[in-house]
Amino acid sequence: MSLSSTPITLDALRFFRTSRGAELLTEAADLAGDELRASQVLRARFPADICRAALALVQLRQAAREKFSLADQMYFDREGLEMASREEISTYRATRFQPGQTVADLGCGIGGDLLGLAARCRVQAIDLDRVRLEMARLNLQAAGLGAALIQADLCRFPVRADAIFLDPARRHEGRRVRSGEDYSPPLSFVQELRRFTPAVAVKVAPGIDESELPGGCEVEFISAGQQCREAVLYFGPLASAERRATVLPGPHTLVGAPGTAVPVAPPGSFVYDPDPALVRSHLLDELARRLDAWKLDPQIAYLSSAHLVTSAFARAYRILSSMPFNLKRLRRFLAQEGMYAAEIKKRRFPIEPQELRHLLDLPTQGQGVTLILTRLADQPFVFICVSAGK
Ligand SMILES: C[S@@+](CC[C@H](N)C(=O)[O-])C[C@H]1O[C@@H](n2cnc3c(N)ncnc32)[C@H](O)[C@@H]1O
Repeated sequence: MSLSSTPITLDALRFFRTSRGAELLTEAADLAGDELRASQVLRARFPADICRAALALVQLRQAAREKFSLADQMYFDREGLEMASREEISTYRATRFQPGQTVADLGCGIGGDLLGLAARCRVQAIDLDRVRLEMARLNLQAAGLGAALIQADLCRFPVRADAIFLDPARRHEGRRVRSGEDYSPPLSFVQELRRFTPAVAVKVAPGIDESELPGGCEVEFISAGQQCREAVLYFGPLASAERRATVLPGPHTLVGAPGTAVPVAPPGSFVYDPDPALVRSHLLDELARRLDAWKLDPQIAYLSSAHLVTSAFARAYRILSSMPFNLKRLRRFLAQEGMYAAEIKKRRFPIEPQELRHLLDLPTQGQGVTLILTRLADQPFVFICVSAGK
């Protein structure tokens, strides 16, 4: 078992909160990086199992820094951390609930979403796992927040709240599951929850199959750091659109609106690479209208325009040149122009960026350009571009 998978017990959590426990955690953090030596040094003064748990927690805190600003004061188990919503998303998502509302956070885990919700609403947080619940309590405490924490089976829990947030476990025996019906509880459980209140929000995987998305709800895809991190379904009064793409930080949010069909046409002066949340939410036409842009191919998510319009929903590139893809021709062109591929992007193109870089075999000197590889009218095509802003 890897160190970070070491179970952290309630006893260990209790010990970490004592002055000796705090001493152990500080020393474990100071010795991080050389676990063997750390273990030898610490075992001279502390029980072996508690040393291992402390070293595991230190590793998890380090890993958690990219999700939580207070990571070094928080408590995690490995799976709880992996499943936890990152702070910027939970802070944003909490704004979808009314301030002061009572929200039931069903399956609160170590409290990723709870931290965002408790800063805005009154929260009842429910989880079956007693250790995670205690971690959630300590994590709230670290943030100076509070909530009612209840150990219960959420499938049998009589919810009394204005709204419900459900984050089902998307793992079974440590492995990720794909279908919403394999979540715990399954996606269809939403209908049961709606008996308590119509205002229900459910977090689902960003890659959820379209066919599994229920009707009559809003589907929001949220991206942070250029990655589509999650999707959320909003029911009843929490829904305010059919589809929504939200880009963080911001938040920048886009919903679909009726409009004229976006044409397909040859490239203009600029090409746009839409944010993954926008692509997932099928709001490409809406974005194209906002950018005064058109599609390059009916099947492909790159857009093009004659004039630059910057947007949080797409990266813009000025086209220096473009050509049907031919490796020798591309290499010759780049070499002649004193360019090299600083960035390679692709959609529906058979060669991986790393492989193409290797095949091009050009020195990284001269002008760094972005190569955008795609298919136009089913033929491989390349744009040689420079960034024109987000
Ligand atoms: C995806 S995690 C929640 C992550 C959390 N929202 C966060 O951001 O940290 C799902 C949680 O649901 C809990 N869970 C799964 N089935 C449950 C049930 N029937 N009753 C209560 N909790 C359950 C698991 O213990 C797990 O902690």
